[in-house]
This record gives sequence, structure tokens and C-alpha cells, in this order.
Amino acid sequence: MIHYLSKASRKAIAGTALLRLDFNTEDDWRMLAVIPTILFLLKNDCRIVIVSHRGRPEGGSLNDGVPAGFPAALHLKNDAAELSKLIKKPVIFIRHFRFAEIKKEVATSPKGSVFLLDNLRFLPGEEKNDPALARQLASLADYYVNDAFAVSHRANASVAAVTKFLESYAGLELEKEIAGLSRAVVTPNHPVVLILGGAKASDKLGVIKHFRSSGKADHFLLGGGSANSVLTLRGFDVKDSLRESDPKTLAVLTPLATDKKVVVPTDVVWGVGSDKKKILDIGPKAIRRFSEAIAAARTIIWSGPLGFIERKEYTKGSIAVARAIGRNRKAFSLTGGGETVMFLKKYKLDKQFSFISTGGGAMLDFLAGEKLPGIEALKRVKSKQTKPKQ
Ligand code: 3PG
Repeated sequence: MIHYLSKASRKAIAGTALLRLDFNTEDDWRMLAVIPTILFLLKNDCRIVIVSHRGRPEGGSLNDGVPAGFPAALHLKNDAAELSKLIKKPVIFIRHFRFAEIKKEVATSPKGSVFLLDNLRFLPGEEKNDPALARQLASLADYYVNDAFAVSHRANASVAAVTKFLESYAGLELEKEIAGLSRAVVTPNHPVVLILGGAKASDKLGVIKHFRSSGKADHFLLGGGSANSVLTLRGFDVKDSLRESDPKTLAVLTPLATDKKVVVPTDVVWGVGSDKKKILDIGPKAIRRFSEAIAAARTIIWSGPLGFIERKEYTKGSIAVARAIGRNRKAFSLTGGGETVMFLKKYKLDKQFSFISTGGGAMLDFLAGEKLPGIEALKRVKSKQTKPKQ
């Protein structure tokens, strides 16, 4: 059973929280999503030790606990400053991983103090789900809160192993993610429309397989690399457009070519100049066909833009589809993934959706019906023998 922070008693969450967040984005949208959790903990007079990761650091090392030789952009110092502005109180950035020292600093700080450690992926144990690192992290706090849905598909020390050592809770944002995604995957209202775009089909295979085998999707509307691959399988010459050639990927895509539930664009927008042999957006007829399916839907799930949205002239399809989703007030609509969310925010279309997931890979894994290690770990009860040494 998952324990939710929103339902925890004041007594249970007094003391220090180890709060796992995900600041792994170019802008602050994931940080904004977890501000309510931080404010909730502060309202309860807690001390908060925030931990996060950024990127996939390589090459550096630790020098007396201080990360050295990693790219400057992967440190989290600026996040402390940014977060401080958002919560309007100091966020103390700790630039070393000398855990005994950190523990002392946290324990002697006033209630309501907020700390941020540097990028946890500077520590070799993080991505190995190392129990020794998990134990060190756990020693800093009285309980653990996961509000990092976006990294909950990774069995990392601060996401999974740490729950063996502390009472653990799902934060407010993770609670919303579980509810929102379950509504779309577990108990969706029909008709269910799944819109899949983006350059690659390979990262969406799990979602395609899950929704086909469970019979939960009524329509698959394809754009981008998935559409080009299916168009090729149907005998249409997509010329130099992005498409899949890996046999395993094609094995999943091939049945889509004859599946009546699958809608691929009947007309497309080709690029110009050196891009003239590439499909870069869906055409007006396809927009109309997609919009009809969207208008009749009761659940809409969208992952990945339908055109080459880096260029404004190829955003028409994605903008029209986002608007069509917004017009359907009866449907529960869900989207996520950095590229799609940043695009929707740029064109002020994000408010058109019932729920925006902070996850990219994590959202796709959830939609594929997979068990996420970070969520599964919250269901386990902490064992008494493994309590961290004081
Ligand atoms: C993400 O941005 O999807 C998460 O932070 C996970 O990052 P990762 O794919 O590097 O593990």
C-alpha cells in the first residue's frame, strides 16, 4: 500500500524529510510542479533535504566528498537559487557529499530549513541502486518522500533502495501522477484515442503493445516517425523521412499497417530546399480526420509532437490537434514528455489538457502497463532491522 503525504498525520511528518525531486529539465516546469509539496512540508514545520539528479554525468570524481571534473551545467547550485525565489526563502546548497557533516548541519538547523544536495548522479552508487548510498541518504532524515515521478522508472538509490531504510511517502505531485495516469490506463472511459508522434517510434513500442493487447484504445492516431514507418509498410514512399528500420521495432509496427483502429495521415507536409524529401508535418485532411476522432473521445492520451516543431512552419498539425483536444470538454486528456510540454507551454496550449505528466520515459513506462521501481518501492514496508544507525 502506498502512503500518501497528503494523508499523513502532522506527527508522522514532523522532523526532517528527505525529498526526492527531479530537476532534470531545461526550464523550471518540473520544479513548479512540486512547489505545493515543499510548501506543504514547510507548513508542517519540517526541515527538508532535497535530492535530485541532472543529466547522465560521466568522467568526474569526488575529491574529499566534493564533485570535481563534471560539466558545470550538471551541478544543481543554480537550482537552489531558482527554488529559493519560488518558495521565497533560503535554500541552502550543499556542495559536498560528506554525509556525517551534512547530517550535523541539518540536525542543528532551525525548523523549516531547506537544503539541496548536489547532483546525486555524481555518486557512483546512485544509478546502481546501492544500499550503502541509500543508507547514507536515509541517515539525513526521519522519513522519505518521493515526488520525482519523472525518475520513478529508474531503480536508483534515492528512488528505490532508500525506501528500505525510512518510512516512505508519495508526494503530492506523485499522487496526482498515479491518479491521472491510472485514469487513462487502468479505467479509461471510451472511446480512447491514443495520439503518438515524435521522431522515434521505438520509445513508444511498449505503449502500442499494451494498448493493442488490452484492447483499451479505440483509435491510434499516428504522426512523426511511427506514421512514416506505417506509411512505408502500407507501400507509400516516404523518401528520406525518419522511419524505423530495426527488425524488433518493425515487428511491433507491422500489424499496425492493417489495423483498422490505426489512423495515419492521408496527406502530409513535405519540407522545402534540402528537406524537400522529408515529411515534416501532417496535412489539412489528416488534421480534420484526427480532430473528428478527438471530438468523439472520452479519453485522450498524447505523446510526441506530430511535426518538426523546432520550425514554426511545421507546428500547424500539433497546434490544431492540441486545440481540438481543448475543445472536447467531456474527455479526460493527458499528455507529458519534455518536448511536448515545452511546445504546449510555448504556444499557451498546456491549459487545454486535464492532466500534464512531469514524466517522459516514466510516463511511457506507466502507459505501457509496466511497474515502476520507484512506485513499487513505496508499496514495501520498511523493515525494522534496516533502520539507519543514528
Ligand atoms: C527524465 O528526464 O526522463 C528523468 O529525469 C530520467 O532521466 P534519465 O533518462 O537520464 O534516467
